Amino acid sequence: MCGITGYIGNRPGVRTVIDMLRRLEYRGYDSAGVAVATHGGKNIEIVKAAGKLSVLEGELSDYWDKQGAAIGHTRWATHGGPTTPNAHPHYSSDGRIALIHNGIIENFQQLRAELQGEGYVFTSETDTETLVHLIEREYKRGEVMEQAIRDALARVTGAYSIVLVSAHEPDVLYAAKTASPLIVGLGENENFLASDIPAVLPYTRQVVVLEDGDFVRVTQASVTLTTLAGERAHRELFTVTWDEQTAEKGGFPHFMLKEIYEQPRAIADTLRGRITPEETVVLPELDGFTREQLAAFTRVQIVACGTAYHAGMVAKRFWEHLLRRPVEVSVASEFRYGDPLVGTDTLCLVVSQSGETADTLAALREARRHGAAIVSVVNVVGSSIARESDAVVYTQAGPEISVASTKAYVTQIVALNLLALHFAFVEGRQSADELTAYVRDLTALPDAVESVLGGALLVEELAERLASRTVFFYLGRGYDYAVSLEAALKLKEISYLHAEAYAAGEMKHGPLALVEPGVVVVCFSTEPRLFDKMLSNIKEVAARGGTVLAVVPENETRADASADEVLRIPVVRPEFSPVVSVVPLQLLAYLIARARGCEIDQPRNLAKSVTVE
Ligand code: F6R
Repeated sequence: MCGITGYIGNRPGVRTVIDMLRRLEYRGYDSAGVAVATHGGKNIEIVKAAGKLSVLEGELSDYWDKQGAAIGHTRWATHGGPTTPNAHPHYSSDGRIALIHNGIIENFQQLRAELQGEGYVFTSETDTETLVHLIEREYKRGEVMEQAIRDALARVTGAYSIVLVSAHEPDVLYAAKTASPLIVGLGENENFLASDIPAVLPYTRQVVVLEDGDFVRVTQASVTLTTLAGERAHRELFTVTWDEQTAEKGGFPHFMLKEIYEQPRAIADTLRGRITPEETVVLPELDGFTREQLAAFTRVQIVACGTAYHAGMVAKRFWEHLLRRPVEVSVASEFRYGDPLVGTDTLCLVVSQSGETADTLAALREARRHGAAIVSVVNVVGSSIARESDAVVYTQAGPEISVASTKAYVTQIVALNLLALHFAFVEGRQSADELTAYVRDLTALPDAVESVLGGALLVEELAERLASRTVFFYLGRGYDYAVSLEAALKLKEISYLHAEAYAAGEMKHGPLALVEPGVVVVCFSTEPRLFDKMLSNIKEVAARGGTVLAVVPENETRADASADEVLRIPVVRPEFSPVVSVVPLQLLAYLIARARGCEIDQPRNLAKSVTVE
């Protein structure tokens, strides 16, 4: 996720915003830039560079000690690769307005075409540049700066937080927010803007956290807060008592927990701009494929590792159900050394958070060598896997810092589901009503996950009761089996406990011999069609003294009599239940690992990006 900073006061502007950006570096980024009002505000100068802040700093010596309102940005690429032209800030065409932005402008293509039609020339591939030209246009139509920004924002759909500095009013920073975070830091005769609290902590602990729909005008001496519609607004002043490390994690003790709580937003961002008002799916990323080419893929091959492989396991079921084609899911390290049955009739879906996993990249190349078309689902823009794919559907999870993947997993499933629905709309095998019902149910997922997180207290109590156990099994059928694999992986990687997943029907073919008092068996039973079968498994485990933790839809009570513990999740379509049912088990794994004193964000022996075989 992008880092945003802004400063207005007597300190050197560029130096201050760079220092603030350094405090946001932990979030990850791939390019950076600053804009500063110079020569008494006559000019706005922008310096930006692909790569780390140190690269940018090398180009800033002329600005280092100068005063002037300044804004700074570290970019996590979304629209357009991590290049210098795509880095923020973006200029208006007359060079008098500079804008930084975090979020996604959904209708930027339409606005861009409109502005190009009026002669505006674009120098980047970003959605952000559209907005700065739009503001310039409104200003030139005779509006004062503040109104020009408001009018331009009224044309924009999507999610954003923005900060702007202009030569028209060099002593003012303007900022607005709809979805992405933005705060104002209040100092003595100086003020700050930032996407996150750690950026301002060395300067002030007095902070206003902006809400969606807020608009602020910030000068050295004042902060004027209104709504986007122009009405006065009031927000509480918040005195930050966290130390800097806690602040980086948004007040959470670990990145993993922060990322678990970010999941509703991550899912919403992954859906954003990809669902039309008519509840169909739009994926311009696939425009390079004709309808005939899509129809000609008679086979689908998914390759991935670890958690991404588990997302592929979920997707396999949905793709086969919806598109009636064989879908093979392979662990990338097995695929690359096998003798894969892929060819020009195969669509290869490559799933990876980092986009750099060595085995997954090698599997991609192997599939390509056999003539398969490559579509990847990746979180990091411009990564190796993204670059080598024919098309990329990015998950919009934002940087995932905890080694144990959480928000990447749920967004991978959502992106793979969107892809399947895109194919289904193109092929028209199902009625439009059937397909829009799927789309509607997808859009309900952020709320469902939010509601699970609202019940975290129950999971905490459960974790206290289970923290001393040492052997865990995870069982499920169908979609629930796929999610069992992921839930078991979460527990084992961060708590170092023995956790193993089985297709529930396999239990009596061997593993049941291991069940005895003290063993915890998590039984996912979210699919109504398979509930009775799962109930039999639950009873088998209970009869052998195992501790049953049943994960069931909230309207289901039939497991209550046999299970020792029951976790209820909101009712969602079974095809989408893994996105919801995994969440309490991510929390449980986290809480057990914490109770055991484990190093949660960086578990022993593991790395975030596995770039070796
Ligand atoms: C587990 C985890 C790993 C990754 C795997 C693939 O929590 O994060 O299993 O899923 O190493 O990584 P990516 O998705 O970056 O290819």
